[in-house]
Amino acid sequence: MSTETSTWAHVCALEDIPLLGSRVVTADSGDIAIFRTDGDRVFAVHDKCPHKGGPLSQGIVHGDTVTCPLHSWKIRLESGEAVAPDVGCTRGFDVKVENGQVLLKA
Ligand code: FES
Repeated sequence: MSTETSTWAHVCALEDIPLLGSRVVTADSGDIAIFRTDGDRVFAVHDKCPHKGGPLSQGIVHGDTVTCPLHSWKIRLESGEAVAPDVGCTRGFDVKVENGQVLLKA
C-alpha cells in the first residue's frame, strides 16, 4: 500500500530554465534549485550547499554536477552528494519534463 501524498506540480517550460543554469522555486521545504544540463536533463536539489549553505542555483553546471559559488565544492545533481574529497549531501527532489514542461514533486 502506498502512502505517497505529494503530487507533481507544474513549474515552468523547460526553455524558461537557462541551459547550464537553474531556476529557484520556493516550496514548503525551502528553496529548491532546478537545474538544466547541456543534455536537457533536469535535476532538483535544495538550493543550499552541504558545506556552508551557499546558493547552488548560482553555481556553474558542468555535466551532471554543479560547482558551489562560495568555495567551489562540486555537488552531484542526481544525488545531492558532494564529490570527494568533500563530504556532505543536500536533499534532492523528483523532477521531470513532459511535453516541454517541467514538473516537480516537492
Ligand atoms: S558553501 Fe558551498 S562550497 Fe562552501
